[in-house]
Amino acid sequence: MTSSPARSCLTIILAAGEGKRMASDMPKVLHPVAGLSMVNHVLNMCKAAGAGERAVVVGNQAERVANSVMAHDASCRVYEQTERKGTAHAVLSASKAITDDLDDVIILYGDVPLITTSTLQSARTALAEGSDIVVLGFETADPTGYGRLLVENGELVAIREHKDATDKEKSITLCNSGIMAFRAERMLEILKDIGNNNTQGEYYLTDAVEVGRAKGLTASTLSVPEEETLGVNDRTQLAEVNEIWQQRRRKELMLAGVTMQNPSTVIFHHDTIVERDAVLEPYVVFGPNVLVAPNAVIRAFSHLEGATVAKSAVVGPYARLRPGAVMEEGSKAGNFVEIKAATIGAGAKVNHLSYIGDAEVGAEANIGAGTITCNYDGFLKHKTIIGEGAFIGSNTSLIAPVKVGKAANTAAGSAIYNDIPDDDLAIERNEQANLSGKAKQLRERNAQRKADKKSS
Ligand code: UD1
Ligand code: MG
Repeated sequence: MTSSPARSCLTIILAAGEGKRMASDMPKVLHPVAGLSMVNHVLNMCKAAGAGERAVVVGNQAERVANSVMAHDASCRVYEQTERKGTAHAVLSASKAITDDLDDVIILYGDVPLITTSTLQSARTALAEGSDIVVLGFETADPTGYGRLLVENGELVAIREHKDATDKEKSITLCNSGIMAFRAERMLEILKDIGNNNTQGEYYLTDAVEVGRAKGLTASTLSVPEEETLGVNDRTQLAEVNEIWQQRRRKELMLAGVTMQNPSTVIFHHDTIVERDAVLEPYVVFGPNVLVAPNAVIRAFSHLEGATVAKSAVVGPYARLRPGAVMEEGSKAGNFVEIKAATIGAGAKVNHLSYIGDAEVGAEANIGAGTITCNYDGFLKHKTIIGEGAFIGSNTSLIAPVKVGKAANTAAGSAIYNDIPDDDLAIERNEQANLSGKAKQLRERNAQRKADKKSS
């Protein structure tokens, strides 16, 4: 399908509704799908489609929604609908955005986040090909609650809201997704002529079809997969939409060369980047801002956020990378290892049960099991620097700020609080005393105590 870049376009996203069924203090459209609010997903889609200007109509918790969308998309404009009087009234709240120079206006919903760029392009194409109004419809087994598309001889003649429909109209399964595209020229004239003589006493945007046709304009439908039109009213639908979003992303990544053994267990953030030939084992969860480079392996049950994993690095199983974690090429973070604000140099290994925070670990260094960077004194965070090729013995406490020189060693169990020069070995332990026969003596005493207790 060809797009029509020559035609100018405005998308208006309706986001004023209350969303009572979410049972939430947060406005419905701000609820996240893969970590990004639904309304911002819609804005992203409009941007990706190169659709042009974007406007958002806010109402319920207007300021909060406005701040959120403007922080995400500085060039979108926000309009307030002060009372909820229906979808046509909501669009009219943004009438200032519908300027004379526009060719097309597309109405989207802030709580319908799965709509795709290609659907948006198709709607624009239909306008370019001559329709004055294009309504995106879908077929569904259970049309209860949706507006029905009344089509005669291939032309859309009206949209009937469920509550206003006759029994015959209710039997129609082609439904209104709510997404409508208009040639801008006469749109305002049509919207202003819409009345509220219906069961809900609302100004229905859907009436634009009948009002437009009475003025000699044409209306048509465009079929889209039901999945794209899913609207979120409660948390079960939010979860459903999240899962569909995840499935799409998994598929996209696999087709781009990422291996997943059990894709349905891998959870992505909306901005996760995973490159070709990376392997994601089961039960991996991505938080915001993660890049996984080619050939890296994220092993099972790992959690990553704000992290960069360079080529051929291996993370997990059971690893946690927190913001600022950088795993350089070929480095390793093994089981029960947590890394925060730290760079693990090329080829360096942190294989077992360690916390590395606010640190730089040089290339090819080996960090023994149970090593902890003691980075926090209860007030300030301090840095640990470990030189290239250093060998940190198991259960070393590195009391920051501290610096371990290149190729230096620490003896297992040491608490290191002074810098170690290159090539030195630091050992910090109390002297060991072996008390002759003491273990046997204690064992016999305890056995006697047990026997005495039983007989008393
Ligand atoms: C609407 C359509 C219906 C369609 C259905 C698809 C109308 C009259 N009906 O019905 O044909 O099948 O969507 O889901 O358009 N909104 C505002 N301000 C308002 C009213 C609504 O911003 O005054 C926003 C809501 O936040 C929501 C969207 O518009 O995002 C749709 O409103 P909603 O009340 O959910 O309409 P439906 O009854 O679902
Ligand atoms: Mg609805």
